[in-house]
Amino acid sequence: MVHATHTGTRWAQLFSGTPRGARLARLLAVRRLELWGAPPTSEASGTVALVVAELAANAVTHGCLPGRGFRLSLELPDTRSLFVAVDDPRGERAPAPRGRGGEGSGNGLLLVGTLTVAWGWRPRPPSGKTVWAVCRLE
Ligand SMILES: Nc1ncnc2c1ncn2[C@@H]1O[C@H](COP(=O)(O)OP(=O)(O)OP(=O)(O)O)[C@@H](O)[C@H]1O
Ligand SMILES: [Mg+2]
Repeated sequence: MVHATHTGTRWAQLFSGTPRGARLARLLAVRRLELWGAPPTSEASGTVALVVAELAANAVTHGCLPGRGFRLSLELPDTRSLFVAVDDPRGERAPAPRGRGGEGSGNGLLLVGTLTVAWGWRPRPPSGKTVWAVCRLE
């Protein structure tokens, strides 16, 4: 749970479309949650860190264009849930879970699916998209 005073708050930042940018996005998400009242040692914070890491890594690996970054937004609709959104510039390529939980790559979105209440994506005209997820903060 986060402090009730932060309900309705939104935070967003742009990151470079690089592994370093993805790592920074995860670190700043954990820091933001801490400022909102969920300590880095909490289960909720660990879950959000994993979800942000997967969505940011996907934006960098599959959704970015040279010289273009991605944007991470975090929003608190209430004290028990967090809306995570990652905007990237490639609207023509859709996230598509592939694996069946085996070894190797193609499991990131399956993990996101098990850790979140819901996730999805939507086009962001004129040419980008938003991949979003809802995390429970309990
Ligand atoms: N932001 C995105 N933009 C475009 N395509 C995406 C995006 N995120 C995911 N995808 C597509 O969905 C597929 C599945 O994503 P997922 O994260 O499950 O696996 P992965 O990124 O290929 O491997 P892993 O996450 O296990 O390292 C990707 O291979 C890619 O084709
Ligand atoms: Mg992935």
